[in-house]
Amino acid sequence: MQALRGPSKYDDEPSRHPSLKINAKQPFNAETPRTILVESYVTPVDMFYKRNHGPIPVLDDPQRYRVKVGGLVPKTLLISMDDIRMLPKYTVTAILQCAGNRRTPMSKTKPVKGVGWDVGALGNAVWGGAKLSDLLKLADIPENTANTEAGGKHVEFTSVDVCKEENGGPYKASIPLLHATNPKADVLLAYEMNGEVLNRDHGYPLRVVVPGIIGARSVKWLDRIDLIENECQGFFMQKDYKMFPPTVDWHNINWLSRRPLMDFPIQCVICSLEDVCSMEWGKKVNIHGYALSGGGRGIERVDVSVDGGKTWIEASRYQKRGVPYVADSEECDKWSWVFFELQTEIYPPTDIIAKAVDSAANVQPEKVDTIWNLRGVLNNSWHVVHVNSTAKAMRSSL
Ligand code: MTE
Repeated sequence: MQALRGPSKYDDEPSRHPSLKINAKQPFNAETPRTILVESYVTPVDMFYKRNHGPIPVLDDPQRYRVKVGGLVPKTLLISMDDIRMLPKYTVTAILQCAGNRRTPMSKTKPVKGVGWDVGALGNAVWGGAKLSDLLKLADIPENTANTEAGGKHVEFTSVDVCKEENGGPYKASIPLLHATNPKADVLLAYEMNGEVLNRDHGYPLRVVVPGIIGARSVKWLDRIDLIENECQGFFMQKDYKMFPPTVDWHNINWLSRRPLMDFPIQCVICSLEDVCSMEWGKKVNIHGYALSGGGRGIERVDVSVDGGKTWIEASRYQKRGVPYVADSEECDKWSWVFFELQTEIYPPTDIIAKAVDSAANVQPEKVDTIWNLRGVLNNSWHVVHVNSTAKAMRSSL
């Protein structure tokens, strides 16, 4: 068996694309520059954001690699990559988004703790692999099971990486068993990303991908899958990736009072700043960006204002150019982002604003201070781009 422990030092890190915007070197955390985000519907692997909590493991002997399926399962399993590949293969196009996306703008309201991220802590990939629901059937757990006779209600994923938050232990997370066994939830054990073998940064040889849910639950470099009674007690489930109200700060926090984050909320971001930079009074510009929502909810509308919110114009939406996008229709990729676009004249000085509505009628909050939280997670306030009177200097805010 492979030594299932990642390195504790950073002396064998993979090489990375020089255009990534590095937010922390060790552990390596880097995001996609905003203009590159909307260049392609499927984010190229080398430009995809990378979010780590420790050194990147080296699991370079796929022949010896095994995943143990245990805990309260009716039948324990020791699974090889060949066994995984024998299960039906699915490809699912899905966004992975870190709960800390847009943390840096939130910290301008009041400081927050955590790696700073602008708007590029997300990407859209075509993941290839087996469905978790199919693997769990091999362990005698049928589809759409909420709990087992032995009391199993959650599926815990444990990695091999060494994280200081876990006192040198591995990264772990869990999702409810009902979610894991629902074939329509498309939870994957992925070994491919955009048609290529998954690379080390993204979890080689095998990772979990939980579409529609914050990236923190999509555990990379999988070591074990355990059926457990209560949700995972790991740091990243219990003492991180929870959202508190603005009244809670480090002196009065009670971690147990909140549940671990799962679905991400409705979100949209303007990415085409280059166009905006070159604009002049009355010039037509192309306002282009991404919108997405959690839980597989589609994007019903994206409204854009070029006069600071006095009037709004609906932007066009698409996933594939030339194919009309209809939220929640059979034709759309339900787990992916939707691009929006609007051509209109701009009269600086002004604020350009974008806000989206999802197919469950969820809207984005206007102000970031109303959703400020000490860990800086889930910043989905209206996206505002300030343009000054000369239209030469401008910045994105909140
Ligand atoms: N899995 C392990 N083993 N270790 C990690 O640090 N980070 C999580 C998740 N899975 C993490 C992990 C977080 S917070 C995110 S947002 C996604 O992986 C990022 O996945 P990516 O680096 O492939 O983009």
